[in-house]
Amino acid sequence: EQIEKGGYDHFMLKEIYEQPSVIKDTYRGRLHANEGMIKMAGVEDNIEKFTNAHRILIIACGTSWHAGLVAEYIFEEFARIPVEVEYASEFRYRNPIITDKDVVIAISQSGETADTLAAIKLAKEKGAFVFGVCNVVGSSISRESHAGAYTHAGPEIGVASTKAFTTQITVLTMIALRLAKIKGTLSKTEYHTYLSELEMMPEKVQEALLTNEVTKEIASVYKNASNCLYLGRGYNFPVALEGALKLKEISYIHAEGYPAAEMKHGPIALIDEQMPVVVIAPKQGHYDKVVSNIQEIKSRSGKIIAVVTKGDEQVRALADHVIEIPESSDPLSPLLTTIPLQLLSYHIAVMRGCNVDQPRNLAKSVTVE
Ligand code: G6P
Repeated sequence: EQIEKGGYDHFMLKEIYEQPSVIKDTYRGRLHANEGMIKMAGVEDNIEKFTNAHRILIIACGTSWHAGLVAEYIFEEFARIPVEVEYASEFRYRNPIITDKDVVIAISQSGETADTLAAIKLAKEKGAFVFGVCNVVGSSISRESHAGAYTHAGPEIGVASTKAFTTQITVLTMIALRLAKIKGTLSKTEYHTYLSELEMMPEKVQEALLTNEVTKEIASVYKNASNCLYLGRGYNFPVALEGALKLKEISYIHAEGYPAAEMKHGPIALIDEQMPVVVIAPKQGHYDKVVSNIQEIKSRSGKIIAVVTKGDEQVRALADHVIEIPESSDPLSPLLTTIPLQLLSYHIAVMRGCNVDQPRNLAKSVTVE
């Protein structure tokens, strides 16, 4: 097992560090930024299903559901197709309205999650075209789908999903860009810029991994917290959910992710000097709005841990801790903002003496209801 961990203390840490290379593996042979081309066999073979789709329904559980939420923002922005994201377990039991004009994208690392598998079967019965985004080759969900794209993240052993999440986002971004090209929903410049930026992501993720030291220091300050709030807006709202999920899964600290602006409709009541609040505040997107959310937290004495774009001075002046990540466009920022949040939960869990790779009560793949 020590050999399999490749010198890392835990599989989770190894998998976090693998992200630059697996993101590359995911787009290799598919993304050709120089030629302005994206080629994914499963998409090309069914291109009319996608371009004629009245909407895209994304079905998943857990972390994969969070990747689906990021994809909702990306598909709507890039390809202007309406998207709904559903928990597989809810979808399958509520007589959903589905037609043959719908494209269903099922996202699953393992390809074995019982609820997701059952939801696919239901969608197929109702005539939808089902596209699987799975990591495990030959898995039940990949076989049950009409077509699909593998994430090529390699085996993920740590129960808390990390590299599966970022590679799922990579695949879904490529699909959205492919559709944007056909539909003409992005300008040529935008399209080419996103393609090149996606190709650069492994390097940027590598740079984001340099946050390991600072997240370790922050972890030592907050390791005994009993609650933690994660806030983000737009593309980074799902990242806030994922950050909170990572923390509760492996450190057993109660954590909640919230859209930053919704804070005033509830969680703000919880903020006092005991409450660490992780705010995802990259320069793009709704930066000014997030800064005012940070001010609201500060005026209630909450402890602010901010994930910011390198060189940001405005948030540094307000926050208790800053974690700097490389610059990126707003839609691609989740691939970077998520990295320090993975590391933060990892270090907190290690410092609390938790079983990081096999947290209590959780299973890597949930093959029963
Ligand atoms: C379990 C795992 C999570 C995972 C979820 C969905 O809860 O512990 O890490 O996100 O299942 O799994 P899937 O394999 O369908 O992505």
